[in-house]
Amino acid sequence: MRVIICENYEEVSKEAAKLVAGLVNLKPDCILGLATGSTPVGMYNNLIELYKKGELDFSQVKSFNLDEYYPIAKSNENSYDYFMNDVLFEHINIKKENINIPNGEAKDADKECKEYEEKLNASGGVDLQILGIGVNGHIGFNEPDENLIAVTHKTGLTESTIEANARFFESKDQVPTMALTMGIASILKSKKIVLLANGKAKHNAVKALLNDEITTSNPATMLKVHNDVVLICDKEAYNG
Ligand code: GLP
Repeated sequence: MRVIICENYEEVSKEAAKLVAGLVNLKPDCILGLATGSTPVGMYNNLIELYKKGELDFSQVKSFNLDEYYPIAKSNENSYDYFMNDVLFEHINIKKENINIPNGEAKDADKECKEYEEKLNASGGVDLQILGIGVNGHIGFNEPDENLIAVTHKTGLTESTIEANARFFESKDQVPTMALTMGIASILKSKKIVLLANGKAKHNAVKALLNDEITTSNPATMLKVHNDVVLICDKEAYNG
């Protein structure tokens, strides 16, 4: 795993945007795997700026998002659908029909997950997957557990994730307790993976990712089996 240690969050965001922009320029019809959470927002801001300067064109880009709460209305400000439009999609020229996010409104969650995985496979595969990391080492919504489902699936959220994500909601009891998420195998199919982490709160997760053996009790450690992962983190996440 290549590790890029940055001075601060701004630098993490710039470095990540550089990698994404490089790929979009090199392969205008690339497939991006996108993540939510607060971490990638700075990177998205940098990409929007490059687009506005005329240095990036997303007209042929396709995207697959990692996960979505379940059940949740797309109009809910805390849905990842709403979030992605707000922080990225409505500011760039990506085509609506090229955007894929697990549907939190689906009546049949299992069917939605199966179809999402099929669409992901039929697309030819993600060229570059952006990931954040949960304080407990989750990626997407693959939470630490004894067993993990490999492909896109419905999952319960752990207490620690509900607590960590409560800051976006009015109260903790409004955080959905379920989600739809790409599985670890879906994520590992991506050609390149860029994992972003910043701040002291992520130090333990980053330390475990770099030093621990592969275990489902820290899903991020499974990234070690992939041969093209770049971790971009700030000093606080790296040193604690
Ligand atoms: C959320 C998302 C993850 C994200 C993580 C970290 O629960 N499902 O994809 O990486 O938590 O979020 P943040 O970047 O806000 O710390």
